[in-house]
Amino acid sequence: MKAGGFVLVVPEGDAPIFARIAGAVVADIRRGRLRPGDTLPGSRTLAAALGVHRNTVLAAERELALEGWIEATPGGTTRVCATLPESPPRARPAAAATRAESVGFELGPEPPAHVSPAPPGGAIKLLGGLPDLRMVPATALARAYRRVATSRRAHELFGYADPRGDELLRAELAAMLARSRALALEADDLVVTRGSQMALYLTALSVLRPGDRVAVEALGYRPAWSALQAAGAVLEPIPVDAGGLDVERLTERVERAARQGSPFRAVYLTPHHQYPTTAVLGQPRRLALLALARQRRLALFEDDYDHEFHYEGRPVAPLASADPSGQVIYLGTLSKILAPALRVGFVVAPRPLLSRLAALRAVIDRQGDRLVERALRELMTDGELERHARRMRRVYQGRRAALARALEEQLGDVVSFDVPRGGMALWARAPRVDVDRWASACEARGVVLQPGSRFSFTGERVPAVRLGFAAEAEPRLRRAVRLMAEALLGLGR
Ligand SMILES: Cc1ncc(COP(=O)(O)O)c(C=O)c1O
Repeated sequence: MKAGGFVLVVPEGDAPIFARIAGAVVADIRRGRLRPGDTLPGSRTLAAALGVHRNTVLAAERELALEGWIEATPGGTTRVCATLPESPPRARPAAAATRAESVGFELGPEPPAHVSPAPPGGAIKLLGGLPDLRMVPATALARAYRRVATSRRAHELFGYADPRGDELLRAELAAMLARSRALALEADDLVVTRGSQMALYLTALSVLRPGDRVAVEALGYRPAWSALQAAGAVLEPIPVDAGGLDVERLTERVERAARQGSPFRAVYLTPHHQYPTTAVLGQPRRLALLALARQRRLALFEDDYDHEFHYEGRPVAPLASADPSGQVIYLGTLSKILAPALRVGFVVAPRPLLSRLAALRAVIDRQGDRLVERALRELMTDGELERHARRMRRVYQGRRAALARALEEQLGDVVSFDVPRGGMALWARAPRVDVDRWASACEARGVVLQPGSRFSFTGERVPAVRLGFAAEAEPRLRRAVRLMAEALLGLGR
């Protein structure tokens, strides 16, 4: 629009018109087209030129004045403030060379790295940890967030809060864990963290001293190892087999280390659906592990990342549900049941440890995202979260069957596998195939899967692949297996 010599371009968009007018004025000030002291046309002139009601222009001006961009003059006109909320652009931009490309001091130790590159867009992703993000109950979540953020008492949620997480969410999680996992809990028996990754790191910092020995699964979850190592742990891999962590081997190692005077302090494990093999740790091994932990005063970091997705009978109750002596630190997440981007995980542990975790959390993060936490609590009280979990369990069960069938039909002579009792992935052994080359050939055909070496503590070859079935619909799973078979033919086996 043009009013006298004044031109204002108001962009299209979903924001209310008054906000877009205000935004256009700010953009002009930033660009230097409007300068401190410049007078704006009167509101009537502006409204007529823009074809909007005068109240709309007045609302935009109120917004701009509140933010400190414009002010009314004693003479009744409106002008750009002499002192702006941001510095105006310089006549010529500062030379880019002022930004240093290197650091001018010594860096500390390299952090243990684990962030894998994002797979190419459009690829069929058989990545074990991914839920189907197209099915996230986004509308219910957005509605809950809006309800929370605009409620009469929302202002109470916008400030600093408990580093342990929103109390109402903790209470709701405690009730859910009591119902579904035989954990007798109250809100104060858990801390909500940004993902279980943060929970594990805080736990490691609170429990371990640099140099402490920690046992991990020899095939396992690399980001967890990084968290433990970042806290100074020295990790020792223990074999896993079709029954999960080999507790007998663990016991031998723990006893030997104790005799040698350098005892183990902790064990990190995924007993429900062993990562990556999906094996369920059987009852005798569970009992032996708990007894060993009590006897040798070990902390057990129990990562139960996809508890809800169990298809054969009921999920197995966690180690934490049979732990009267306080050995187990139980880690859970909403990343699988809902979405990783929400960054909501939790840790259940004896209260003296939780208060340390909370104090440490406050050092690096102060608190979680309280509005998201409260919105999630709404989803839980509405029953939406459990409904979603039930829905996804059915969907994933169908996908598990579709993947298993396609593998048998197309690759039955090459791979062998047990249909997983739970989880979101299938562990397929392929002893006669160079699976690393096979995975690369698959990726070239648009199928991303993880070869066994990715999960190996030593990085050695493991003749197996992990095939996630949760994130892709059944036709795409079948197509992926077809492409895997083609890729294998291309390798000449
Ligand atoms: C074994 C394991 N633990 C934990 C997590 C969850 O991490 P977070 O809650 O930090 O998203 C994952 C996710 O991939 C996982 O595979």
